[in-house]
Amino acid sequence: MAEHPPYPVGLRLTGRRVVVLGGGQVAQRRLPALIKAGADVHLVSPEATPSVEAMADAGEITWRRRPYAEGDLADAWYALIATSDPDANTAASAEAEAHRVWCVRSDDADRATAWTPATGHSEGVTVAVLTTDARGRDPRHTAAVRDAVVEGLRDGTLVAPHFRTRTAGVALVGGGPGDPDLITVRGRRLLAEADVVIADRLGPRDLLAELPPHVEVIDAAKIPYGRYMAQEAINNALIEHAKQGRSVVRLKGGDPYVFGRGMEELHALTEAGIPCTVVPGISSSISVPGAAGIPVTHRGVAHEFTVVSGHVAPDDERSLVDWPSLAKLTGTLVILMGVDKIGRIAETLVAHGKSPDTPVALVQEGTTSSQRRVDATLATVAETVVAEDVKPPAVIVVGDVVAVGPDGTAA
Ligand SMILES: C[S@@+](CC[C@H](N)C(=O)[O-])C[C@H]1O[C@@H](n2cnc3c(N)ncnc32)[C@H](O)[C@@H]1O
Repeated sequence: MAEHPPYPVGLRLTGRRVVVLGGGQVAQRRLPALIKAGADVHLVSPEATPSVEAMADAGEITWRRRPYAEGDLADAWYALIATSDPDANTAASAEAEAHRVWCVRSDDADRATAWTPATGHSEGVTVAVLTTDARGRDPRHTAAVRDAVVEGLRDGTLVAPHFRTRTAGVALVGGGPGDPDLITVRGRRLLAEADVVIADRLGPRDLLAELPPHVEVIDAAKIPYGRYMAQEAINNALIEHAKQGRSVVRLKGGDPYVFGRGMEELHALTEAGIPCTVVPGISSSISVPGAAGIPVTHRGVAHEFTVVSGHVAPDDERSLVDWPSLAKLTGTLVILMGVDKIGRIAETLVAHGKSPDTPVALVQEGTTSSQRRVDATLATVAETVVAEDVKPPAVIVVGDVVAVGPDGTAA
């Protein structure tokens, strides 16, 4: 019996004959990986589950609809024995031994000559977990170890930097609205592998504290820009660090392309010949209202939502926003960077037909521990912002959706 631990190995099965006995649940679970490995799979079984049958119908496996017969394992490189007939399993196992075919037995791990590990995949690696002896086999534990490793690699909580395939360059990562759990899995992994992180004031700043000490963290707001504009100085910093062969993450709040100047940075990097990847992020325009109990759309209330920047006042000639048209829309208006100008914005919306009673909510520092929501109407919002001392960053929501959630005044 298995006195020694199994020897782990990766089988290269492309075009090689693999025999599977039994078309039940075990085959259904194992066949996709054998097919993916390019094996020439022969199933021998009088019956099969609908999914296994579909694999045969699709030509992914060859199915002989009969019970196991002596000789089925001839010429096989590998066998999976999983019939419901213990005698057939024993006979097939003996045949496998006689022909020196490595064989997995679903009914008796002790007698099997091979075990199937719990497997998972992450970014070009396969994680395979085996127990060391048959008596200590605990498939749920091996699956849990596999899940912990794969999940950790995916979300960056387990750091395993690439070495050979690692390319210097810049990743523009949308970090989400602020809660460190709201960055994407890809963003988190790239952050964990970075040599340099250039971060904005908004976004998941708590994640910076978790970075290993060798990582250089640069506050984008503090990059000295002398005769350059701030954005040019940031672009130059990205280019210079990447040119030194370092992996650079530009960590931005929300999504890089929603009022985030992501495309300007991408252009500058492309012009400098620096490889760049862009990772989308959860924009504050949707997530911050949501975190405060406000859906940006709601059946029967709003069939559209419009996201606008309020960083310049409606009467400012630099404004590209058509406020009079927005006043005529029935849907939700989501205003970013509008705290300072909300008085002028509200006046303009009312002057062009929006009801002064339209509900307004201001959500400050959404998704963080300092989140706060202040409610008003278009008529009162200018005073409320001052009276309640609402400060940026805040997302302003204008429309009837403000009143539909559990926190809504008219819910
Ligand atoms: C320069 S824009 C960047 C938007 C970002 N790219 C996004 O997709 O969320 C900055 C504005 O986003 C909004 N904002 C971003 N994060 C926020 C948060 N956690 N709470 C409230 N507002 C936020 C504020 O209106 C802030 O002034």
